[in-house]
Amino acid sequence: MAKIIVEKSPSLKGTVRISGSKNSTLPIIAASLLTEGSCVLKDVPRLMDVEVICQVLSSLGVTVDWIGEDSLEITSNSLEKCEAPYELMRKMRASFLILGPLLARKGKARVSLPGGCAIGSRPIDLHLKGLKALGADITIGHGYIDAKADKLTGNRIYMDFPSVGATENVIMAACLAEGETIIENAAQEPEIVDLANFLSSMGAKISGAGTNTIRINGVKGLRGCTHTIIPDRIEAGTYMVAAAITNGDVTIKNVLSNHIKPIIAKLREADVNVIEGVDEIRVIGNKLIKAVDIKTLPYPGFPTDMQAQFMALMGVANGTSVIVETVFENRFMHVNELRRMGAAIKIDGRSAIIEGTKDLTGAPVKATDLRAGVALILAGLVSSEATEINDIYHIDRGYVNIEQKLTQLGANIYRV
Ligand code: UD1
Repeated sequence: MAKIIVEKSPSLKGTVRISGSKNSTLPIIAASLLTEGSCVLKDVPRLMDVEVICQVLSSLGVTVDWIGEDSLEITSNSLEKCEAPYELMRKMRASFLILGPLLARKGKARVSLPGGCAIGSRPIDLHLKGLKALGADITIGHGYIDAKADKLTGNRIYMDFPSVGATENVIMAACLAEGETIIENAAQEPEIVDLANFLSSMGAKISGAGTNTIRINGVKGLRGCTHTIIPDRIEAGTYMVAAAITNGDVTIKNVLSNHIKPIIAKLREADVNVIEGVDEIRVIGNKLIKAVDIKTLPYPGFPTDMQAQFMALMGVANGTSVIVETVFENRFMHVNELRRMGAAIKIDGRSAIIEGTKDLTGAPVKATDLRAGVALILAGLVSSEATEINDIYHIDRGYVNIEQKLTQLGANIYRV
């Protein structure tokens, strides 16, 4: 089994380019099922999760081809099947995003129920509530969801929580429904806007994406298009923390500062110097990181996907900080691993109380999920002894060439 070894590293210096957003790419690939035309996607991050959703589409009869290193051409005119195999679906929860598009295009879909995962039970009730409101008949049995609809009809849908995935599934299905759909308390993440822009290029009629009320007027059909994926705001935030934790000076290219306002604000509160350019950000560290409190929230609040990385940073800050996780019920799996490396962290329900220390020591640890894994890399950069990270397949799900990108900035990191 491959491992990542991280050794104490000098202050990171230089430039790093951010890849396209994983969380935009996955729903956009699913949305390409809505047309018989060809869709070309540019700046696609070549990640394990992306390979998995491509395999799901291939298993349905769709043609998926890589063009060069980071473009994908998807042609769904050969879409035959409406059932995705459990073996592929179980590899990644986001595969569930094919439900809405399949239902809209074929009038039926059979997909396996996503299982639990390390960060909580992650229900799908809001996805199903939305699709039912559009007229889908949904039955659940033997680990599968069967959805059928002779016809989808627009409706008003209130999201009890602004779920990203449920908002995406409903938007995609509503594009081919008859009449108007209004999603209230919709998720407002930049990835929702990217999906809506992609669908609009295909001929969909969508307004309000990026606000909490999204209106979709159904159309009869969609066409193929070419679309460039937005930069990955979480990858950008992760390299910003890498610069901060090592007291470095790193310029991050291909980033939209509008998408990462809470990350910039919290780094500045922690006495890190952040200089915003047009599509780049320079982060200059500080010897003494100030402890700051953080509460994760749906966008535009502080992203839960940056919680673990900030916990690593607070682990070496001056003072005590409190991090409250409100989005997921069980997203503190990295705490035990950070403790093994010498961090002083206590958990009280949904809060973590972190006493900053100067002396992280490094240890053999394991990545329990994607962001937890990368938090261990960040902590390893400033630990006195080597950190050996196991189960790194989690990290490969979400970070393109992470060792190369960090090595280029001067980090001591390698894979064995
Ligand atoms: C997406 C992101 C993930 C990020 C998360 C929150 C992708 C591929 N993944 O995941 O990286 O951490 O947004 O920003 O884009 N919920 C329900 N019922 C539902 C659906 C969700 O109760 O039907 C709850 C979840 O249990 C969770 C919360 O809503 O507590 C947020 O989940 P959601 O926004 O749906 O996350 P994902 O779309 O799965």
